[in-house]
Parts: sequence; C-alpha cells; structure tokens
Amino acid sequence: MENSSNRSQNVHIGNIRSIEYGVNVISGTTDVANFKISVFSPEIVRVQINRLDRFYPNPYSVIVEEDNEVKVTLKKLDQQTIIITEKLEVLVNHFPFHIKYKDKSGQILNEDDEAFSVSWLGTEVTNYKKLQAQEKFIGLGEKTGNLNRAGAAYTNWNTDYFAYGVGDDPLYMSIPFYIGILENRAYGIFFDNTHKSIFNFGASNRRFMYYAADDGDMDYYFIHDETVESIISSYTYLTGRMEMPPLWTLGFQQCRYSYYPESEVLTLANTFRDKKMPADVIYLDIHHMEKYKVFTFDGEKFPNPEQMIQKLKAKGFRVVVIMDPGIKVEKGYDPYDDGKEKDLFVKFPDGQEYEGQVWPGWCTFPDFTMEKTRKWWGEKMKFYKDAGVDGYWTDMNEPASWGQFTPNLINFDYEGEQVSHRKARNIYGMQMAKAAKEGAEIQNIEERPFVLTRSGFSGVQRYAAAWTGDNVSNDAHMLAGIRLVNSLGISGVSFAGYDIGGFAGEASKGLFARWISIAAFAPLFRAHSMINSNDAEPWAFGEEVEEIARNYMMLRYQLLPTIYSGFYKSSKFGTPIVSSLAISYSYDEKIYQGAYQNQYLFCDSFLIAPVDSHTLITKVYLPEGDWYYLYDDLFYNGKSEVYIESPLSYLPVFVKSGAVFTMQSSIQHTGEANDGKLHIHLYHGKGQFTYTHYEDDGVSKSHLDGNYHMREIIWDSTIKVLSIGSSEGEFPSAYDTLVIHLHGFSSKTIQHKGQDIKSSQGEFAFLDKLTEFDPLPDHFHPYHKISDLKTFMIPNQQDSFTIQF
Ligand code: NOJ
Repeated sequence: MENSSNRSQNVHIGNIRSIEYGVNVISGTTDVANFKISVFSPEIVRVQINRLDRFYPNPYSVIVEEDNEVKVTLKKLDQQTIIITEKLEVLVNHFPFHIKYKDKSGQILNEDDEAFSVSWLGTEVTNYKKLQAQEKFIGLGEKTGNLNRAGAAYTNWNTDYFAYGVGDDPLYMSIPFYIGILENRAYGIFFDNTHKSIFNFGASNRRFMYYAADDGDMDYYFIHDETVESIISSYTYLTGRMEMPPLWTLGFQQCRYSYYPESEVLTLANTFRDKKMPADVIYLDIHHMEKYKVFTFDGEKFPNPEQMIQKLKAKGFRVVVIMDPGIKVEKGYDPYDDGKEKDLFVKFPDGQEYEGQVWPGWCTFPDFTMEKTRKWWGEKMKFYKDAGVDGYWTDMNEPASWGQFTPNLINFDYEGEQVSHRKARNIYGMQMAKAAKEGAEIQNIEERPFVLTRSGFSGVQRYAAAWTGDNVSNDAHMLAGIRLVNSLGISGVSFAGYDIGGFAGEASKGLFARWISIAAFAPLFRAHSMINSNDAEPWAFGEEVEEIARNYMMLRYQLLPTIYSGFYKSSKFGTPIVSSLAISYSYDEKIYQGAYQNQYLFCDSFLIAPVDSHTLITKVYLPEGDWYYLYDDLFYNGKSEVYIESPLSYLPVFVKSGAVFTMQSSIQHTGEANDGKLHIHLYHGKGQFTYTHYEDDGVSKSHLDGNYHMREIIWDSTIKVLSIGSSEGEFPSAYDTLVIHLHGFSSKTIQHKGQDIKSSQGEFAFLDKLTEFDPLPDHFHPYHKISDLKTFMIPNQQDSFTIQF
C-alpha cells in the first residue's frame, strides 16, 4: 500500500512472492508489483512490470506477438528462474527481483542493479542497469551527440525545435531503443512506453545506466544476437520495416520554404533540366495553401495546380505537398466544420476542443490516435490527389504550436484507452504519418505511397521516411546530421535524411558543395532552406559548386541500381542503408573516436568519410579488410589511418575490397530510360561477398506478387569465382547487357564456360575503350588513373553463370 512517503522516495520492486510458469512465459507478483516475462523469439524477451490491475498494451510500436513455438527451457529453482532460448539465458532472481542476461557462452550481457532494478518515484518508473566495463551505447534514434552515448543522457519528448544546437535534446522524434556494446558482444533494449522518458547512459553517476518514464508500465524488450546488424533486424522484426518506396523518392528532391507562384515552380523544374542536373521531386511548402489552411491551394499563387503538376510530370517531376496537423478554427472551412461535427479533434477533459496557435492562427488538432480520424484525414487527401500530388510531407506533427507547451491534461483517444497528452504526445506524429500513408494508399491504389515525417516514434519506418528538421547552415550541423541519420538507421528508420545546405542560415559555397556530395550517399537526398534566405538550389552558389553538385547528383543516379537494391535489403531485414561503422566494426575502439565517428558504410560496399568544408586533407580510418579509393582504385590496407586529399570536388569515398555493386548510365530522372547496360563492379579482395541486385517497376505494388527481378552476385576469393545467380521473379530486367568491371585484378586468365574471355570474340571480349564505359561523371576524370581495370560485356540472360579467375 502506498503511503505519502512513497511519493518522494524510491520504491523498489522487492522480492518475488508468487510465480507462475507458462510454456514460454513466466508471470507473478513481487512485494509491490506484477511482472510478466515472455519470449518473442530466440533473440527477444519481453519484460513487463507495473503496480496496477493489468498490463497496458502499447498498440503502436510492436507488430508481433509472443511466440509459443520458440524453443524455451525453464529452470525453476528456489532462488531464481532461468529462461533459456537458443540465443540467450535470462536469470530472474527472486530475492530481490532482478534480472541478468547472459549469452550462450555464459558471458553477462546485461544485468539490473540489484538494489534498485525496477523502482518507482511517484508514477515515474525506472529500470537501473549496472554499467559495465567499457560499455558503449549507440542508437536512440534522432539524438544529437556522439556515436557512443556513454556519459550522456537524453529525453524522449517530441519537440519542435527550430535551429537546434548540435548538442541539443530533445528533438522531433523519439525512438527509445539503444544497443549496448561490450568488449566482444552486444545487446539491444527497446523500452516500449510512449510517456516522456529518459535514457541516462552514465551521466552524473558511474554506478548504473537507466531508463525511466514519467508513468506507465516498465515494458521493455531485451534483444541479443551475434551481431549488431542482427540485433537491429530483431528490433525491426518487432517494430516493422520500411516498405519498398517508389523509385522516384530515391532521386534528388528540391524543397524550399516556399516555392511560389506557379511560374517559379515551373522555372525551377526547367532549370534542373536545362542545367542537366538530375532531379525527381519538387516540394510545395506552406505557401501553397490559402492562409495556411490544409487541403486548400492559394488561388492567386496557384491558379491551376492540376495543370501545373501535369506540366511538371511531363518533365519527369513528382510533387510532394506539406500537410500540417493544425486545422484553422474558422466556420465555413470544411475540414474544421466537418471534423468538429464528426467529433475528431483533441479535447480538454471537459469536452471543449483544445486550440493552439500554428501558421493559420488558432487551430484545432485532429486526434490521430483514433482510427476514424486517420481515415477521415485520408479521405480529405483526395483534394491533393485530384490535383496530381504524389507525396505528402507531414510537418509540425509533434504537435508543434506557438509557445511549445501543450497542456498535459488534454485528452487523446489512444485507440480507445483515453489518455492524456503525457502518454499520447510522443505517438501523435507517427499516427499522423500513418494517416497520411493510408490516405495516400486510399487515394491511389495503383502506386506506392510516399510520406516524409518530422515527428515519430518506434515503428514510424512502417509509414514514412524522416528528416532531421530545422538544421543550420554550418559544418558542425552537417556532420551532426550524418550522425543523426546514422543513429536513425541503427534505430530502424532506414529512409532518412537532412536538409542539404542547412535549413536556417546561409550556406557558404564550400559548405553547400560538401553537403550535397555527402548527401548523395544518404538515403533521402533532399535540399531545403528557410523563408527569406538566399537562393539555395544547387546552381545558386556559382559555377564551381554547380559542377560539383552535378557530379554527385549524377553519381547518385548512376548508383541507383545499388541504392534501390540497398533499399530492398533494408525493407526485407530492417537493417540500415547508411550504416555507422559501429554496426560492422562494433568492437573496434577506433571507430568511436571523434575524428572517425561520422564515417559510415553506404549500401554495404562504400565507406564514406564525411569531412567538413574547410579540411582539404583529412584523416580517414579504414577498418578491417582492404579498401580501394573510389576515384582512382588506389589500394589501401585496412586497420589503418590514412591521410586523404579532400578538396571540395572529391569527397573521400572508398570501396570495400571484395565488394560488388551495380551502376547504370546517367539519367535525368528516374522515369527516364537508361541505356540498357547494367555495370557490375567487382573489387578484388579476400573472402566472400554477396550482393543482391534488385529491380522492379519502381512504382506499383506488383512486386509483392512476384513482379520483380532479383539475382545474387557473389564473389568468392577462395575459389576465385564471380557467380551471377539466375534471376528470380517475373519482372524483366531494365538492362539487356551486363558490363562487368574488374577492379584490382591482375590475373591474366579469366574464363567463362571454360573459355578464356580475353581471347574470345564478340560479346565476351574485353572492351577496348574502357573510358566509354567509365562509370564516373566527367568531372572525376582528371583524378582517374585506374590502370588495371578490366571490363567486358555479357548479354543479360536469366540463367546463372560464373566467371573464373
Ligand atoms: C518547419 C519545417 O521543419 C520546415 O522544414 C518547413 O519549411 C517549415 N516548417 C514551414 O512549413
């Protein structure tokens, strides 16, 4: 029983008093609480604890249930119960209640602080975990700071934060999932609680790390597997994975607050085409609306949106519009009248609608935690669909309002649970993104939806891509954005990016050049800038920057076969497209150092070493394995620190030895046909590397019914064979010819079907003019001293074949 001192003093969970054993679950009571521990997979165990009458479901993040089929052994001892799966051991100590997790070799992965394990301070619930020697922490989604979060603490409370600082917290999106890295093993914890929460990784104390929520259940998932990558895969098994996005969303996206009127939008589109700078998307920010009212067009600025969008489409552009949640309080404005009549807005406990101020003035807020509101919103999106809009940008959905202090007492439906803002805020933005995605699908059943969201929570990857909000035009922000996106990748959100050039402030020439070069290797490739700032299109910074931008934009489009294949892999396994080195080289201390923490792998094959706009010679850390410099094939040994020239025109990019990737000819937008040649690049190296090449029509959902083209390309150095697997799926590849580029091979004999390729004629002969098929855009050529590149062509047939060295 609670007494008044309970409110200000720590209340510990105490001893286990009763315990029940199920097939793969144990449950029971302690001195003060109920607990339940269940197995979701050999890698995943869920722990639920509270002091209430029942456990509260979180209807939003986890999309799978506990699995009774998983092989579990329960050891029922007096002092402890041990839950054993194929991957882990969970030791539940009874007196007092505290849990230890071990891997199969008996090494400790993680353990509760025995004295405090799970405790309460008032309604605040906390799980205290012993800090372990050299323990590192990565992930937690959109969080600033270092790659290794040890020594820092963070708050999860979705916040609209204009021009945030590179160390500021909290930002727009909350993902209470992190990965702990020990000397040679790792684990993940997802704390499934939407209240404001805190993750303290050893800030201001050295005894424990902890995570705490203002209220609600202690409800967390413990994950362990052999690699960090598979831990991420397990986390996304729980919270879902991105669906294959439309191909056009991987192209270059141009945004501004705001492009108007119509003539300016059309000129923008023409300029991209005239300047031969490939691009696919133009955004319409808030000025497209009449007085910022969602589901309207400003009749003066955009007298005929349908016609304008048709013209843009004819040039290969898709249009994305912004949607803010706030509905202007205005009688006669249909979304307001209709939403009010249907009782869809968020209300105070006395039934009065809550109103906050945003761009349109005083607004009501649709309760997106209610199915019927989401559906209603989706129906309203017909307005945009009729105009020809193809994508939706859900902004201000924290939700933001002037003053930024939404009263906590307002009510949300929360799928029928009826909760206050304290529990609903963090999930609101994700539910708006869900409404937008489902709305886009209702409005256009033929095509895949695209939603870009600012706010979100664990699982948001199922509905939308994300961007890191109102960043600032400076070098530190550019580099911080890379870490934010890498961290989002660790946390299940693969499709993410930052505003190229910085949203607030003015980018210098150098900064813009560098930023767009790096962003060519980000999942979302989008430039954006603030109202009343200088022009910030890729040609607005003078000729030199224009040329650099064009080169990297072209390279991006040439790399689309690899990038699309990377998205496929991510949609299948939930693993990131931009992969912090902490994922593949988790136990290498070097990669956490300040100088190297921004480095990442892009689509498995490329190592990107981001560098600020002033540094013209930079130090790069090349982890284990060997590496080739992208621009000249120069070979570097791994586990070494190297100095690389980094003029603005050459972002340091390396290719992993043994890696395979694919490229295509230069195109101006994703709707344009390529020249029919798929370039397969293999870089000589030890070991085995599997690249899965994936294609489909890029637009429809028919890939889900088998209309795709997929084949594995495997390099195996032990048998010296490159094998191109037979193609799977019904989609006819967009390429009729395979052009195989061998980098770093000195071998004189290369055979296909027992025939020496070099001496054979016709299609299997080496090409004389290598430069004709040189994959890199023109500007890179002066740097290009590739000497032993061998290239040959083969017709693209469905059967498998091997090339023997
Ligand atoms: C805030 C968003 O973060 C920004 O990208 C957008 O341009 C403005 N809202 C105006 O809509």
